[in-house]
Amino acid sequence: MAIEAVIDGGVVKDAKSAGTLFRGFEIILQGRDPRDANRLTQRICGVCPTAHAIASALCLDDAFGVGDKIPDNAKLIRALVSGSDFLQSHILHFYHLAALDYVDAVSVLGDLYPFVPRYEGDYRISGQANADLVNHYIRALDIRRKCHEMLSIFGGKMPHDVGIVPGGVTEKPTEDKITNFLWRLNEIRDFIDNAYIPDVLIVAKSYGDYFGIGKGCRKFLSYGGFDVPTGKLFKTGLVCPDLSARRAADLQLEPFAMENITEDVKHSWYADSCSGKKPAEGETKPDLTKKQAYSFLKSPRYDGKVCEVGPLARTLINYVHADTKTRRLVDGLLGQVGTGIDALFSVLGRHAARALEAKLIADAMVDCLLVLKPDEPVIVDSEIPEKGEGAGLTEAPRGSVGHWISIKDKKIDRYQVITPTAWNASPKDDKDQPGAVEQAIIGTKVKDKDNPFELVRIVRAFDPCLACSVHLLDAKRSELGVFRVV
Ligand code: NI
Repeated sequence: MAIEAVIDGGVVKDAKSAGTLFRGFEIILQGRDPRDANRLTQRICGVCPTAHAIASALCLDDAFGVGDKIPDNAKLIRALVSGSDFLQSHILHFYHLAALDYVDAVSVLGDLYPFVPRYEGDYRISGQANADLVNHYIRALDIRRKCHEMLSIFGGKMPHDVGIVPGGVTEKPTEDKITNFLWRLNEIRDFIDNAYIPDVLIVAKSYGDYFGIGKGCRKFLSYGGFDVPTGKLFKTGLVCPDLSARRAADLQLEPFAMENITEDVKHSWYADSCSGKKPAEGETKPDLTKKQAYSFLKSPRYDGKVCEVGPLARTLINYVHADTKTRRLVDGLLGQVGTGIDALFSVLGRHAARALEAKLIADAMVDCLLVLKPDEPVIVDSEIPEKGEGAGLTEAPRGSVGHWISIKDKKIDRYQVITPTAWNASPKDDKDQPGAVEQAIIGTKVKDKDNPFELVRIVRAFDPCLACSVHLLDAKRSELGVFRVV
């Protein structure tokens, strides 16, 4: 990932967010057995492969005509595998990827890799509180290992599980597996309640100004998903608060319809003929000759609108749906930090929403475990049709993920994937509207253009899923420095 920001008079005037690698899974999949999509698309990512396992399974369930026949056990086990991935990913993001923007590990542990090299931020937490945060950074490594073990109980292994398949899952629930899952889950829940959420609050109280930085496009989208015994844990819809929104009552829910999703490529390295298409009709034709292009990400848009996806979007949409637990968590947080709901459209709002969501998921996973039925089926038989179409829309740790398939002669004719990071980190679209991350950066005041930690904090709060670096360039395009962003 590369971020280019043009800073003039201490303010970001323009920004470019670029994906610098070509993915090409859509091309790899053409002509293959449709079930391969479930295995191969997980290789898109090593951090959130489970999201692609779920999205591809839902897509194939749909195409194979068994979408409404998936056994309850299978839905719950898919949620348990997915939830394990959400928890490791959210904990990874806060402690190992983002916390060092705020926590001074060097003063506690010394000048060691991976704490250096770093750019010099304004480290405002000191003494015992800073030392505790550094200790939690180390303990979080062990907690993430437990999340991976937990995922493997029903998923077989992590990364790239083998337990989620079209029609259901392959592992049956047993008392043994449920017990082994539950003790790990309870230790992880204890960490979320007594370290993760309190640590985010410590950062929030020391960096209160970051409730006002990185506001972004203020259009939040969630496809919804994640089966729990009472329905879907994540609700569906859009929330587009205007600038005057201060209270929860100011948020209005808009309905979601898949048909409104299109992808533009004016500023992407794909042939112009791919532009403006719905994903079910989407094409992946690289074109490296385009002058205006600066990214391998396309620009997904909803009804032409730039949208932000992820934990903050889900939290706001659940809130507007009057989800009781989400409301209690968010109201509790806002009470502690003394701000209105508009403060959540920010760097700290994104971190806080992610932490609260970890609790929402972990607690819901207990409910899923307790209603598994060891003697009942976990899969329904399915057949590959001669021809057909399917869509699988769900939620990944970083936001809404969608897979679309067309089958011809029992083989994949067309496959398209839109990842959450494509929504958040997309380049400008055909109408030159900047993407969500770009909008969050534009207008930001930067104290020192040689050390622009404000921008890195904004980008990282989105948890972009691109395991590489951010290059920051000045107006003359000379490279200022290379900073880790994930
Ligand atoms: Ni990923």
